[in-house]
Amino acid sequence: MISERVVKALNEQIGKEVFSSYLYLSMASYFDSIDLPGFAKWMKVQASEELGHAKKIYEFVYDRGGRVELPAIEKPKCEWEFPLRAFEDAYEHEVFITKSIHSILDIAREEKDYATNEFLQWFVKEQVEEELQVELIVKNLKRLGDSPVAIYMLDKELGSRGAD
Ligand code: FEO
Repeated sequence: MISERVVKALNEQIGKEVFSSYLYLSMASYFDSIDLPGFAKWMKVQASEELGHAKKIYEFVYDRGGRVELPAIEKPKCEWEFPLRAFEDAYEHEVFITKSIHSILDIAREEKDYATNEFLQWFVKEQVEEELQVELIVKNLKRLGDSPVAIYMLDKELGSRGAD
């Protein structure tokens, strides 16, 4: 049986993952609005992955006998000055998600909840990947500056990300 404290933290995390999806879809819409379909595609794929994370936690809570109770989702930001700013926000958001996963892990350990501890290891690894991916794009955007040709090339590259 899973403790109410762990269920509460996991339910909040479902909300954070759904918000991540919402935020990245909002970023996709921003990129579509400035005619960067590759950047938009990358964000759409990311948005789908985030919903997958939310569902993964949902199923785990259910499997452990907990009750999934979805929290409210706030309106995400919808405009950015330029592409780099959006990816900087995405990076900052991923760091926030990593800290959130780590804090649930702390709770699970305090509660001696070994199953949740094991379950969250997947998310710990996933966050390392996600932070790295976004950080590399931030670095590339900083290196390229505002050269339209370079942004065009990066748009092509980001657009090749697997289907959502
Ligand atoms: Fe599900 Fe990008 O954290």
